[in-house]
Amino acid sequence: MNNRDYILNEAKQWVIEAGKLIKSEMQKPYKIDTKRDRKDLVTEIDKNTEQFFVDHITKRYPDHKILGEEGMGEEVHSLDGTVWIIDPIDGTMNFVHQQRFFAISVGIYHDGVGEIGLIYDVMNDTMYEGIKGEGAYKDGEKLAPIDPNKTLSDALVGLNNFWAIPNRRLDERKIHDLVRKVKGTRSYGSAALEFAYIAEGIIDAYITMRLQPWDIAAGKIIVDEVGGVTTRVDGSSIDMLTGNTVICSNKAIHESLMSFIQQK
Ligand code: IPD
Ligand code: CA
Ligand code: CA
Repeated sequence: MNNRDYILNEAKQWVIEAGKLIKSEMQKPYKIDTKRDRKDLVTEIDKNTEQFFVDHITKRYPDHKILGEEGMGEEVHSLDGTVWIIDPIDGTMNFVHQQRFFAISVGIYHDGVGEIGLIYDVMNDTMYEGIKGEGAYKDGEKLAPIDPNKTLSDALVGLNNFWAIPNRRLDERKIHDLVRKVKGTRSYGSAALEFAYIAEGIIDAYITMRLQPWDIAAGKIIVDEVGGVTTRVDGSSIDMLTGNTVICSNKAIHESLMSFIQQK
């Protein structure tokens, strides 16, 4: 990608500005709607934040494409060229109920390759970034590679509440076995932050049944840069144009989780 450093700096500035906007808008009353069901929230701040990115990107880079959760960009059917994949607020439930533990997630892909990943924890003013081939950073400090020797029994695993209800991927007994086997489980309510925490080494794996491209796009780039692996639960590659199951962790835990799920 030409002028990657330039795009990186600009994207970071926009993310920080968007964070400031969110912080000021959340002081006033705002409209909250639901999407698929009563648990799937969207606020006017999600939409305004996405619009903020769309306005800046289209003005500066009219040939770039934008795939955003709230649909303010265009319909994106291919990853050719430069595509910004944006979740304006990841963790909207946390945003509405807790006013914390949410993040802005921006992944920039060029011809299908993840080049820049930014995850900004707005309330903690913490920026995670991943730059393909250069490394991953937290607030400008380079993150160390994640521990390749850590095994499943030593792992803190991010699991969301969908695993607690009947599902077609893992039956109840297996979920119980998994919870017994690992060292602990955590459920943060923001996929983007869970990727960032894996990169930082404060949790060791994340496994989920369905995430959209904007939940994964930045996180995958950041985790790749510290030696982690992110695939679908059957080991196939993530498709940035559609929904995916996800396992993210070091290679050893990734293999254990895959064989655990596939075991009859
Ligand atoms: C959600 C969060 C949540 C995950 C959901 C996502 P949203 O994103 O990342 O942790 O479990 O699958 O949809 O709706 O808050 O942007
Ligand atoms: Ca999301
Ligand atoms: Ca969102």
